[in-house]
Amino acid sequence: MRLQGKSAVITGSAQGIGMAIAEVFASEGAQLVISDINMGSAQKTAEEIKVKYGVETAAIAGNVAKLKDCETLIEASLDKFSKIDILVNNAGITKDKLVLRMSEAEWDAVIAVNLKGVFNCIKVASKSMLKQRQGRIINIASVVGQMGNAGQVNYSASKGGVIAMTKTCAREFASRNILVNAIAPGFIRTAMTDKLTEDQKQIMTSTIPLLRLGEVTDVAKAALFFASDDSSYITGHVLAVNGGMYM
Ligand SMILES: NC(=O)c1ccc[n+]([C@@H]2O[C@H](COP(=O)([O-])OP(=O)(O)OC[C@H]3O[C@@H](n4cnc5c(N)ncnc54)[C@H](O)[C@@H]3O)[C@@H](O)[C@H]2O)c1
Repeated sequence: MRLQGKSAVITGSAQGIGMAIAEVFASEGAQLVISDINMGSAQKTAEEIKVKYGVETAAIAGNVAKLKDCETLIEASLDKFSKIDILVNNAGITKDKLVLRMSEAEWDAVIAVNLKGVFNCIKVASKSMLKQRQGRIINIASVVGQMGNAGQVNYSASKGGVIAMTKTCAREFASRNILVNAIAPGFIRTAMTDKLTEDQKQIMTSTIPLLRLGEVTDVAKAALFFASDDSSYITGHVLAVNGGMYM
């Protein structure tokens, strides 16, 4: 049990990659805060994981784009488990358009959730980690934050920003033994990629050396590595989980 006695807060964990991370952490003994903007799904996921893995879970609603919500989330998590060892910034959205067609609202919405949301959660959660003199922060970025992608100017900019933020926070918190790393998934089979047409999926798959989309568990296992003692001398790293599509 690599996470026995640890408490983790995972944003956007009602479904998809966040839920897979929650399951892998639970299978290693962690107690979990399942946080999401969608409270109904968060409650369902928290209950299912509790029953399946026998760990304590709590569902806490919150929109990461709002600092106040993040303050409430972290306060409630500390009330429940008295410490936060691991924060996974996973909540994210897409609103894809070519630059010329993208509205200001579409730009702002994606930046607010994917970039400011990560800042909000780190700002609030790091206070208790600084006092504890230990912690792990894992940010879910994206391959498109590294290589760019036509039609995703807002999303790729947000994820590139998350990578830069990861390195800055890694430097700021290193002396207090708070390790900050990012995972840059490629194309993973989730609700986010289900929106694509079969043609788009085939074109995408042909650019991946491993010739398949990734699974949510591929990302979750990378998150477990960053959450566990196996990565205790690694900070400011961006781990590609992309089947080789960007090297
Ligand atoms: N699926 C992929 O191929 C892929 C690739 C690279 C990176 N990612 C990143 O992985 C993360 C998870 O993606 P996913 O594919 O599981 O997506 P998903 O849409 O299946 O799940 C995202 C979750 O975040 C929640 N959420 C959305 N806005 C929120 C907000 N403002 N506050 C709190 N919760 C919010 C949603 O309710 C949902 O439960 C995202 O950051 C995404 O950008 C996904």
